[in-house]
Amino acid sequence: MKLIFLGPPGAGKGTQAERVAETYGLAHISTGEMLRSEMRRETPLGLEAKAYMEAGELVPDELVIRMAGERLNAPDAKGFLLDGFPRTLAQAEALSGVTDVDAVINIDVPPERLAERLSGRRSCPGCGLTSHVSVLPSGKCPKCGGELVQRADDKHETVMERLEVYRKQTAPLVGYYADKNLLYTVNGDQDIDAVTRELTGVLRKFV
Ligand code: AP5
Repeated sequence: MKLIFLGPPGAGKGTQAERVAETYGLAHISTGEMLRSEMRRETPLGLEAKAYMEAGELVPDELVIRMAGERLNAPDAKGFLLDGFPRTLAQAEALSGVTDVDAVINIDVPPERLAERLSGRRSCPGCGLTSHVSVLPSGKCPKCGGELVQRADDKHETVMERLEVYRKQTAPLVGYYADKNLLYTVNGDQDIDAVTRELTGVLRKFV
């Protein structure tokens, strides 16, 4: 399967992508995670991306397209799930020159839910677990005991900017993929297991 998960920041793309990639043995390709890894390692790409990410802006297309293209060429990426890419029409056009896709899943969540989900998100630097303060109020990772942290771009003002950037630059991709008959919309405003069940139902026809 070759899949794209589309949806605003906080829709649950990462949460669902982990489950779906594991179930179907797909390479989970998150451009956000790749860029954060470049930042941690202080590579030239990471240093260039840092200011954009911290401001809640998109990293320039040419950098992200090159990075995603290299990842899609890796031997383990025969079946893949793209999480957070493409995010602009230029990225979508570049992707279509590299590979076809079976389905684009739009995880739909009303805008008023997103800020609360993002400002409460916590993750574990040790094992990568992502959760929410309402689920883990202790601030301790239940998997490895590490201290949960907030992502730098989950601060309130940055979240507001990311939501606006999504509305202007990424939301047009919903119509773009609908016109190509590739779009499937899933209700992301239900509990995490219910979203997974709905998604799995959509994906059944591609297995
Ligand atoms: P990226 O890391 O891709 O962030 P994002 O798209 O903003 O998405 P998020 O990771 O914030 O949300 P998500 O939908 O994955 O939600 P999650 O599952 O974590 O990008 C970060 C930055 O990198 C960008 O701003 C940009 O600068 C740069 N970048 C990345 N890709 C780029 C590209 N292609 N082009 C240019 N720049 C790029 O869930 C969120 C929270 O909600 C969690 O706490 C979770 O526990 C909770 N939650 C999840 N599902 C549910 C549910 N069903 N009910 C209740 N709570 C839920």
